[in-house]
Amino acid sequence: MNNAAAQHDIGSEEFLQISANITSTFGNKLPVTLCIYDNEVERVVPLYEQGVRLSDKKTEIMNAHCNEGNLFISKTDYTGLAGHISKNLGALLTEHYLDEAAAAEIFYEGVLEKVRAFYANPIGETLDEIKTVLAIYSEYVWIDQNRWAYFFNTLKRENDLCCHVVNTLFVGTAIYLKTVHKQGEKLDLSPIALGLILHDLGMTQMPAALTGKKGPFLYKERMRMQEHVDIAEKMLNRLDIKDEVIKACIFDHHERLDGSGYPKGRRGDAITIEARVCSIADAFCAMISERWQRAAINPILAAIILSESKKQFDPALTTSLISFIIANNPEMKALITDKAKMKQLRAIALQKCAQ
Ligand SMILES: [Fe+2]
Ligand SMILES: [Fe+2]
Repeated sequence: MNNAAAQHDIGSEEFLQISANITSTFGNKLPVTLCIYDNEVERVVPLYEQGVRLSDKKTEIMNAHCNEGNLFISKTDYTGLAGHISKNLGALLTEHYLDEAAAAEIFYEGVLEKVRAFYANPIGETLDEIKTVLAIYSEYVWIDQNRWAYFFNTLKRENDLCCHVVNTLFVGTAIYLKTVHKQGEKLDLSPIALGLILHDLGMTQMPAALTGKKGPFLYKERMRMQEHVDIAEKMLNRLDIKDEVIKACIFDHHERLDGSGYPKGRRGDAITIEARVCSIADAFCAMISERWQRAAINPILAAIILSESKKQFDPALTTSLISFIIANNPEMKALITDKAKMKQLRAIALQKCAQ
């Protein structure tokens, strides 16, 4: 990786160097506009526009630039590249030119695209594509667990179901790795990763009038929304998903240690570690995203508020959440020690949450 050479800032536009590992996935039609650095004009200029068919001659020119380390895409084309690479996300595992932050952003978009396809059409075929992407993600994080730090910065704040479950995936696997993983042992992340992605599967069957409501729920509406857990059971049967870890995430992510959750009111040890992880990741991701009545809550504040609900959320897991947020983010670490600021943020957050 060569960050100095890998990025050029031209005005507000940023360019990212790509390697043959990525260009080899292009086929003969360009998924993104390719650029090169032109020494004469001293700026990055387009080489071939998106959609251009790559003739042998063009491929040769592209490869020559690539070998010289002079092939770029605009940062604004990440989504287009992610959409393309999501068909071949494995390329990211061996992509040396992409820095970790860029890879995390592309990964996020790639996973999100697959999740959108599945949540729009939850059938075996779209599920298989998610499984493939998650197997790559598990390997990607496994190779270097510090990579999760970069995913933290990719978490989205909009109130969108698919963004919510992808955020939950990244947060949940980080808590799980930090808490459950024992040094020197290989841990299969795939079941919990799929459980985290599928935890709100039943929401796809909720009426849009409810999921999109911009106002407080009536009692009847709240009860109706809670049915998303039971509805998911029928969907799981249809998808032939039998894994106990996945089921625990889906059925118990709204259960709380003190029995105050739903649908069963399970308590304590009756809630598995995976379901506890999912419940914290789910609640955390809901708090850090925008809602109709409030702005997104600051992540470190959200984690602290959860850690104070010791009767509901496993304290060992909320402590893990806080520790990796501050370990990977100096800004959050500074904020947590600023008592006055935290008090002020907390008052605003709690007031808004109560509305
Ligand atoms: Fe849920
Ligand atoms: Fe959720």
